[in-house]
Amino acid sequence: MTRGPTLEATYEAPPNIALVKYWGVRDRARAIPYNSSVSVTLDRLRSRTTVRFDPEISTDRVELNGATATGGPRESVVRFLDRVRELAHVTYGAEVRSENNFPTASGLASSASGFAALAGAATAALGLRLSGRELSRLARFGSGSAARSVFGGFVEWRAGVKPDGSDCYARPLYGPDHWPSLVDLVLIVKGAPVKQVRSEEAMQASVATSPVYARRLAELPGRIRKIRTAIGERDARRLFPLVMEECDSFREVCETTRPSLDYLTTTSRAILAEVRSVNREAGRPIAAYTHDAGAHLHVFTLGRDVTKVRRRLGRLPGIERTAVLHPGPGGRQVR
Ligand code: DP6
Repeated sequence: MTRGPTLEATYEAPPNIALVKYWGVRDRARAIPYNSSVSVTLDRLRSRTTVRFDPEISTDRVELNGATATGGPRESVVRFLDRVRELAHVTYGAEVRSENNFPTASGLASSASGFAALAGAATAALGLRLSGRELSRLARFGSGSAARSVFGGFVEWRAGVKPDGSDCYARPLYGPDHWPSLVDLVLIVKGAPVKQVRSEEAMQASVATSPVYARRLAELPGRIRKIRTAIGERDARRLFPLVMEECDSFREVCETTRPSLDYLTTTSRAILAEVRSVNREAGRPIAAYTHDAGAHLHVFTLGRDVTKVRRRLGRLPGIERTAVLHPGPGGRQVR
C-alpha cells in the first residue's frame, strides 16, 4: 500500500513589536498598507500552530488555545485557509490547532505570531515550499503585522509600489544577534480595557478622519531611513528618540481619529512620563517607550541600564508584571 503525503505540519512563529507602526490599508483586497513599517522580533514567546488537511473533513475545525474558535476569529482563519487552498489547488477541509506560550492579554499582539505560524503550517502541510519572502507576502493577508513575524531580528515590511502587491513583503534588516544588549521591557498594566474596535477597522477610521494622517505619512520615509541607520550602527542615543517620536506620532493619529481612539490608561501615561524623566535626569536617552493599539507599554533600554530603568518604573503603581525580552529568531517549521 502506498501512503500519500501526510498533509500535516507544525510551525512556530514569534510576536514582534513595531518601531515604526503599520497603520492604514491602501488596498484592502490586496492587503497593501499605506506605509512601510519596521519591527523587532521577540525571543521566548511564540505561537505554535498545527494544520492537518484531510479530504474527509467537510467543515474546517479551528482550536485556539485549547478552545474551539467560533465567530470572527474562526472566520479569519478559514478565510486564510481558503487562500492557501487556492494556492495549492485543493479543496480539503482542515483541522487547525494553535497555542501561544504567552497570555493573549500580554501586551503582545498574538495575531502577528498566530498568522505567521498559520501561514507556515498550512503551506508546509500542502507541500508548498515557500521562501521567507513568499511566506511573508502571504502572511500579511491574515494580519498585516504577521508579514514581519516570519523573520527574526530587525525587520522591515516594505509597502512596495506595485499595484498588485507583489513587492509588498517583509525582509530582515539585521539578524537577532546584531544587537544582543538591546532589551525590551514589556510592562503589563493592570485594568487594560478589552479592545473595542479591531485594529483593521480602527486604522481605516484614522485614514478617513485624522487630520494629521497625511502629515505622518509624509514624515515616515525619512524617519524609517534614520531608524534603519541607527539600528545598523547600534546607536541607542539616536534610535531611542526616534522610536518615541514615532510612537507619539502614532498616538496623535489615534487620538485625532473620529471617534477618538484612546488606548492608554493612567498607568500607561505615567510610564511615558517616567521614561521622559529618566532620560532627562540621565542627560541622554537611556530608554524609549512604544505601544501598539493597547494599554501595555514596551520600554527599550540597553543591558547596562536595565536595572536602573526597571527600578524607576517599578515605583509606579498599576504595573502588573514586567517581562524582559530580547531580539529573537523568526518562524520555523518544527514538524
Ligand atoms: C498598532 O497587524 O494587528 O500594532 O492587519 O488588522 O490584524 P490587522 O492589524 P495588525 O495591526 C498592527 C497595528 C500596530 C502596529 C504594528 O504592529 O505595525
